[in-house]
Amino acid sequence: MDKLVISLGGSVFTDNPLRIGFIQKLAATVTQLREKFQIGIVVGGGTLARSYISALRPENVNDNVLDEIGIYATRMNALSFTSFLDNVNTKIPTTVNDAAEMISLYGCVVMGGTEPGHTTDTVAALLAERIGAGILINGTSVDGVYDSDPAKNKDAKKYSALSYEEAIKKSIVSSVGAGPSVFMDLTSLVIAKRSSIKIYVIRGDDIEEYHSICNTRKTRGTIIG
Ligand code: UTP
Repeated sequence: MDKLVISLGGSVFTDNPLRIGFIQKLAATVTQLREKFQIGIVVGGGTLARSYISALRPENVNDNVLDEIGIYATRMNALSFTSFLDNVNTKIPTTVNDAAEMISLYGCVVMGGTEPGHTTDTVAALLAERIGAGILINGTSVDGVYDSDPAKNKDAKKYSALSYEEAIKKSIVSSVGAGPSVFMDLTSLVIAKRSSIKIYVIRGDDIEEYHSICNTRKTRGTIIG
């Protein structure tokens, strides 16, 4: 069976606290796709992680502790998502290795972060590498990768495709220039490159996109690789 990993940005999943209508639709989609794919789903921290981290950062809380708090948020979101799926893990794995074992058992696994120092993008790339998934769908709040921030520049141009090298360069430039709003973290791109994992960057709440990618490998977003 083909294998697929979905990295779901927390901003797509949460809205003080959760976007229940979207979560139900995504669960129905995942249930359909499970007929053809083994699926790993990695959920981000979203508003829950951000509200805690931004409240604590000005108090000089150690960054490693802030990351740990972010990880708890991702795991709360992941556990919430399991409630909408049948025959899936009921404990959230804390390592990619454990998640890979759960995929063999259930054909599907939902998880959040693993350890401090990266984001769930990297966890998703590591999980894809570990289980040998050729496809990684990165569902974000933007419908692809642009040459500049489409929220700030109405003439921003969306890329339909990028090589790994171009994406890596863009990720470095945007993490230096624009703070935390990078389309995908650098480590995740490096892992995807070394294992030839094709990344589809899409608007995460565009349900049609998941079907289109899984059935025809076509997207309105950006393909990296
Ligand atoms: P996210 O993966 O959601 O981070 O994890 P993000 O990309 O900043 O947020 P989105 O995509 O907009 O939702 C939330 C936070 O949890 C910590 C990091 O601090 C991260 O910013 N985290 C997450 C880790 O330290 N390790 C992990 O494996 C995952």
